[in-house]
Amino acid sequence: MISTVYAVLFYLATILLVVGVGMRVWKYATTPVPLNIVVSPAPRTKRGVVFRMFREVIFFESLFKSNKWIWIFAYLFHWGMLIVLLRHLRYFTLNTWWWVEIISPIGRLMAFAMLAGLLGLWARRVLQERIRYISNPSDHLMLALLVGIAASGALMSYVTHTDIIMVKAYMLGLLRFRIGDMPTDPILMVHLGLVALLMIIFPISKLLHVPGVFFAPSRTLVDNAREKRRVSKWARNLPPLPEGIPANEEA
Ligand code: HEM
Ligand code: HEM
Repeated sequence: MISTVYAVLFYLATILLVVGVGMRVWKYATTPVPLNIVVSPAPRTKRGVVFRMFREVIFFESLFKSNKWIWIFAYLFHWGMLIVLLRHLRYFTLNTWWWVEIISPIGRLMAFAMLAGLLGLWARRVLQERIRYISNPSDHLMLALLVGIAASGALMSYVTHTDIIMVKAYMLGLLRFRIGDMPTDPILMVHLGLVALLMIIFPISKLLHVPGVFFAPSRTLVDNAREKRRVSKWARNLPPLPEGIPANEEA
């Protein structure tokens, strides 16, 4: 019975996540960007922009330049989570890939990196007057949710173990549209319940910074405002441009 409830929950959460994020991405991709509003100093070529985005996503470059404390905590949390998630692949593939085996022991420890990062980011929202003032309930709830997921995971990993073979069989079943039995210990149920909640709220939350960063005109545009005039699609039928000024077809 509980296994079926969780199965339905996960199918629903997956549909909402995929469709929801897809709709958001579509909206971002079709929103006109009539002006070149890139933050300078910015690259002057496309290749330069790719390199800039790489540094932004891998190193959080702009955050590093603006605030070292937030950078440390955000970096611990995000990279900790990435390695934890890669380790989780072992519940979703029949034969665990060799590199997942290798990172697995580190992934287990990364629960603490995640928690340290999240608690640091949270402390800042609570203790720093100026940041507390601009924090919404959703900012706190998001951090609480992720702390809940990481803490319940770490509890299972280090304190009250669950039957991970059974978890794996259940997850592999779900991927093949077969609903088996999952272990029913409370910590696992909390862990999975919170994960489903995270998936459901993803498309309507600040977690949209994940696809969003790739559509941020202030970072993704080429600094060529002097060489090229940007004309949005909707403005193409306006009176013609003065001679000698080329239209930028990408706008
Ligand atoms: C492409 C991948 C990602 C990038 C480049 C990225 C980057 C960032 C950056 C730069 C911040 C800013 C910290 C600040 O200025 O306060 C941030 C915050 C945050 N990120 Fe990500 N992120 C990514 C993926 C994710 C994912 C997958 C999650 C969760 C599932 C997540 C959860 C959060 C949360 C909750 C915060 C807010 C922390 C706070 O309240 O202070 N991020 N992210
Ligand atoms: C359906 C998806 C998921 C399943 C089936 C799952 C299952 C599990 C299980 C069974 C454990 C215990 C591992 C052990 O005893 O060795 C665990 C640990 C953990 N989980 Fe998850 N989890 C899921 C998603 C997530 C997500 C999305 C996050 C983070 C945002 C997360 C964070 C953690 C952490 C930090 C640990 C402790 C470290 C570790 O053992 O890897 N889990 N998870």
